[in-house]
Amino acid sequence: MSFIEVAGARIDTRHYIGGVRVASAETYTNTSPIDGSFLGEISRGTDAEIELAVAAARKAFKGWADLGPVGRGELLMRLAELVEENLETLAQLETMDNGSLLRSHRRGVMPRVAMNIRFFADWAINHLKHEPFETRGHSNNISWDPSGVCALITPWNAPLMLATWKIGPALASGDTVILKPAEWTPLSASYFADLTKQAGIPDGVFNVVQGFGKEAGAALVAHPGISRISFTGSVPTAKVIARAAADNLTPVSFELGGKSPLLVFEDADLDLAAELAVEQYDNAGQVCLSGTRILVHEDVADEFAVKFRERASKIKQGDPRDPETDIGPQIHQVHFDRIKGFVDRAKADGQEIIMGGEPNAELGGLFFKPTLVKNPTPGSEIVTAEVFGPVLCMQTFSSDEEALEMANGTEFGLAAVVVSGHREHADKITKDLVAGTIWVNCFFVRDLRAPFGGSRKSGVGREGGNWSFDFYADVKNTVVSPNGWKE
Ligand code: NAI
Ligand code: MG
Repeated sequence: MSFIEVAGARIDTRHYIGGVRVASAETYTNTSPIDGSFLGEISRGTDAEIELAVAAARKAFKGWADLGPVGRGELLMRLAELVEENLETLAQLETMDNGSLLRSHRRGVMPRVAMNIRFFADWAINHLKHEPFETRGHSNNISWDPSGVCALITPWNAPLMLATWKIGPALASGDTVILKPAEWTPLSASYFADLTKQAGIPDGVFNVVQGFGKEAGAALVAHPGISRISFTGSVPTAKVIARAAADNLTPVSFELGGKSPLLVFEDADLDLAAELAVEQYDNAGQVCLSGTRILVHEDVADEFAVKFRERASKIKQGDPRDPETDIGPQIHQVHFDRIKGFVDRAKADGQEIIMGGEPNAELGGLFFKPTLVKNPTPGSEIVTAEVFGPVLCMQTFSSDEEALEMANGTEFGLAAVVVSGHREHADKITKDLVAGTIWVNCFFVRDLRAPFGGSRKSGVGREGGNWSFDFYADVKNTVVSPNGWKE
């Protein structure tokens, strides 16, 4: 059976290659994190399907590239409209498959999927320009040319949202795409493939090969026919991919994990600080940007902790389809066990857990209680490793210098949140923080014109605006002399 019914929609469980559905001999089982229910048997891709997909994407490349930004833009705008027309289906589908809140998918995430596509299509047409400049009378003319076939490897925490940060600029650049969605959340990518077909995107321009990282993923990133690899996921996997990419010198863009600090200074609005801190539990803590290390000035630590716990106690955990729910389940049993392992080891290590610290027994299944670890031992696992669950640490500092030292004291550098009542104070801190994105007195404001990515082990490269095109396209400079012209 190659179709399943989820959320009233018919989802094809096969790959999408060269505009047609292709089945694999083997399948794997996809379940819903909400209640463990069976969602379907998904085609499990291997080298053979990757070969087919690369061939299809290469064949489609010239035609797509030749359409130019305006020709491609028309089809991409239609695709964005189709996402909006099917928003409710996509929202329900994603919730069933990955357990994130239906209300956020409806209000925020799926509208952003459409926006991601529209934004990059528009950017390629209207903003991807560089003023020519002169060198001794010679003009330098910069252009962004299509580069070939992009391998896009995406995670399960925001499947279609994160995929379209890559699909948008890759397709707008004139590249063709092979998407390998995360094995736990393949459904929205499959449905999206149907929408690309309906939008009239030519066969082979957008392809989806499903399956495991070690099989389909590994074959894809090692393929010599790939011009770019864009990956969002974990640091260990990024290292494996970088090694595979090295053989072909394929450029990579990596968006990896973090252990971001949320700094609450003595001059902060503590209600705002507590509100921002509690937000770090969103998506059951499965957010790369999450500020999981709350660093508070010692003078306000007690007052902040009271406000934080007051707010955190109101978090409603439950079925992500219920509009009252604030946080849902973890993605998968394997991941749930990983999170529980971190917390159990912290307990065994004598760390003080003042909230949560265990599965939600009432709800059962994959629900883990929002957890707070107080004053973890510096350097211990719980305060250095990315847990990727609803587990926050709280520590205190006594000076700006100490705050900065603690904030910057990990191997990561993805994001930071600064809460302070004085601009000068905030400026002084942000200047010395190591992070791709810093939010001051706010969180999660993301403009697609801005660069996004991580420093240190949190990533390689930046995406957004021109930064995306600098990666996906072949940037070319044509130098034209004033001499030698016949007319
Ligand atoms: P992962 O990094 O193993 O998986 C992400 C994607 O990479 C999936 O599509 C997977 O199939 C693919 N992949 C895995 N091995 C591959 C290989 N050898 N070649 C090509 N592709 C490969 O992440 P996983 O195991 O699902 O999660 C583990 C941890 O990673 C989490 O606990 C969290 O700490 C972190 N993570 C961070 C994310 C982020 O947004 N930065 C997203 C997902 C996970
Ligand atoms: Mg699933």
